[in-house]
Amino acid sequence: MDREPQVSGYPVHAGIIMDGNGRWAQRRGLKRTQGHLEGLKAAKRIVKAARDMGVKYLTLYAFSTENWKRTAEETGFIMSLVKQHLRAELDFYRENRIRIRHAGDSGGLPPDIQKELSGAINDTKDFDGMQVILAINYGGRDEIVRAVQKLAGMRKLAAESEPAENIAERDIAGCLDNPDIPDPDLIIRSAGEHRTSNFLLWEGAYSELYFSQKLWPDWEKEDLKAALEDFCKRDRRYGAETASAMSA
Ligand code: IPE
Ligand code: IPE
Ligand code: MG
Repeated sequence: MDREPQVSGYPVHAGIIMDGNGRWAQRRGLKRTQGHLEGLKAAKRIVKAARDMGVKYLTLYAFSTENWKRTAEETGFIMSLVKQHLRAELDFYRENRIRIRHAGDSGGLPPDIQKELSGAINDTKDFDGMQVILAINYGGRDEIVRAVQKLAGMRKLAAESEPAENIAERDIAGCLDNPDIPDPDLIIRSAGEHRTSNFLLWEGAYSELYFSQKLWPDWEKEDLKAALEDFCKRDRRYGAETASAMSA
């Protein structure tokens, strides 16, 4: 496989808020759906680029729990794109030993998408290459609520009458959608908005943030490289003192 060795200092886990598909289309006098089609092409380019750059986990924010507020035409189009993509690209994932995962409330997805998604997850579950986590019908708050519900359900089943103050961060973290995946080191957002829009609220507590003006359908591998290079310059302190303060 033509995979480049991992560049030391690059993020192990990167998340991308793939924003700007609609504006990309509208600026060209096209329908918003055309922007989503181009956005999918960009996502494929960036998956390949991330793999070549040695990123181990890539979380792609494709559809939020709030995106259902859009027209039925747009949401239906995005769902059909997801389905087509999972069908058409399975060979690419297989050839590159890429494991597909999902983040989000799968129960809230149309049944045919649930089926396609669980099929792709199952078909790729033993692959040891990069992991691509598709955040579809994903909301950070929703994920935390579902995690707390799961935890409460597990404790009830075990008939544990533990005091509530025994609930620790690790208990909630362990009930999130993909508890084995390390927190994202870097979260990228395209298209100029400076907000998380409910993406990885828990896991992103100490993620570095990178914002780009470029609309998602225009993203090329050089844009990803620029984000990863920028990440290399960051000083991650996690609330501790700076190195310079320590030596003073
Ligand atoms: C991101 O692009 C894709 C989804 C949210 C599904 P948008 O569709 O939000 O594009 P803009 O922000 O309207 O340009
Ligand atoms: C965030 O983009 C969700 C995805 C990229 C899937 P939105 O376009 O939905 O976010 P807002 O509405 O600008 O906050
Ligand atoms: Mg948007």
